[in-house]
Amino acid sequence: MSFFANKQALVAEILSRYPVGRERSAVMPLLREVQNAEGFVSDARVAEIAAIIKSTPTEVKSVMSFYSTYSSSPTGKYHLQVCMTLSCALAGSDQMWDYLCETLDIGVGDVTSDGLFSVQKVECLGSCGTAPLMQVSDSGYYECLTKKRLNALLADFKARGDGSMPESDTRAPVFVQKNGDVVTQITAEGAIL
Ligand code: FES
Repeated sequence: MSFFANKQALVAEILSRYPVGRERSAVMPLLREVQNAEGFVSDARVAEIAAIIKSTPTEVKSVMSFYSTYSSSPTGKYHLQVCMTLSCALAGSDQMWDYLCETLDIGVGDVTSDGLFSVQKVECLGSCGTAPLMQVSDSGYYECLTKKRLNALLADFKARGDGSMPESDTRAPVFVQKNGDVVTQITAEGAIL
């Protein structure tokens, strides 16, 4: 069944944002419509979008693959995206990833049997100073992760169970000088010294 068949006004409005002949520029907002409505973008939807923008499924998929915000398979209500790039890797993101997968008993592309959780490795989330961190669904960052903090977050998400989240607890580190050295005033557990 077509996603856009009964959304012609919406498609026309999106296409109208771009010059005639540049329909391919509409690929991102069209992907976003599907992602928001269905939680992922299936191959059938990719083909539909490709037809609308006069492109190919391969080209649409290549755009999708560049952005971790689009999923090609169903995700849980809490889609846990762990940054694996250098700063986070040096701060222990591998261990966080392994711990998450073991605790939830899932891997990439899986969803927990209760439909709550899925996991994904992503590239730099742009908050290297608070590594290691993860983004949850399209919302908050949860930073300075430890196993203890992960356990607390998972318990909170399970208790909610509806995709809602606690306030994102951004923990920007505080840098001060001590004996001439710059030190960070935050512990591995996230507590400010
Ligand atoms: S390396 Fe993880 S946020 Fe930049």
